[in-house]
Amino acid sequence: MDAYKPLDRSIKGRTAIITGAASGMGRATAHLFAREGANVAVTDLRQDACDAVVAEIEEAGITTARAHALDVGDADAIKAVVARTAEEFGGIDIVVNNAGFALPVPLGEDGYEDSWDKSLSVMLTSHQRLVSAALPWLRRSDAARIVNVASTEGLGATPRNSAYVAAKHGVIGLTRAMAVEFGKEGITANCICPGPILTGITEAIPDEHKQVYANRRTALRRYGLPEEVANITLSVVLPAASYLTGVAIPVDGGLTIRNA
Ligand code: NAI
Repeated sequence: MDAYKPLDRSIKGRTAIITGAASGMGRATAHLFAREGANVAVTDLRQDACDAVVAEIEEAGITTARAHALDVGDADAIKAVVARTAEEFGGIDIVVNNAGFALPVPLGEDGYEDSWDKSLSVMLTSHQRLVSAALPWLRRSDAARIVNVASTEGLGATPRNSAYVAAKHGVIGLTRAMAVEFGKEGITANCICPGPILTGITEAIPDEHKQVYANRRTALRRYGLPEEVANITLSVVLPAASYLTGVAIPVDGGLTIRNA
């Protein structure tokens, strides 16, 4: 039998771009990746919010995070931030498409078209654009990783939320297509599908409503922490995760497997 082959379980020195990294799961992912020794481009809508996350990371004595304002709805801005990050760190190994928001409007009601356009632009179109811009760098990496944040709304559907549901189902389809398209180059593409997580998006839901929902729907009877999602994202981007591609991983406290 061949000798056991230990695989590389470190992202030290790798470069990651994370969108929507000023809050919630993106922020937790930026913190975690930086603590693991990666170079991290912390991107979000507002420069000051990105600066604040980089300052938090630097409080831990880590100097490998950079803040860049990036509205992922802006195709030119995506190209510019990718170029800047590659220039700063000499390449790009990991892309985490995480930016998102909730703008639920029932189909047929006023504001639906706007919600549809924004949801698809920010939570689906931007994923292919960021990957497209980063592709020349990913192709040069020996452990290129794409992680697209979908949702359990990409695996099922909640009423009155169809634009979001469509975007998140699209993310899973796009990720599978990327996995198949880039597989021969060793680039992996996977989806994280969070369930109910304590972040900016769910902040306005009163605690008692959250608990009722968590008791009724999840196996673990609670909302998840952004750090619990970030750690699964880390597992997926490790060089050792080299045979995992095209999957949609629920990080949902057992929401999708619970029947009763
Ligand atoms: P969050 O609100 O804490 O963070 C989302 C970040 O995305 C914010 O900082 C926001 O400024 C940023 N963002 C919004 N539009 C943007 C744009 N056009 N360009 C760049 N950044 C933009 O929310 P959370 O929950 O951390 O969201 C992260 C991802 O997780 C989203 O894609 C969301 O759909 C997804 N998700 C969240 C769940 C939850 O329960 N919190 C459940 C399932 C999926």
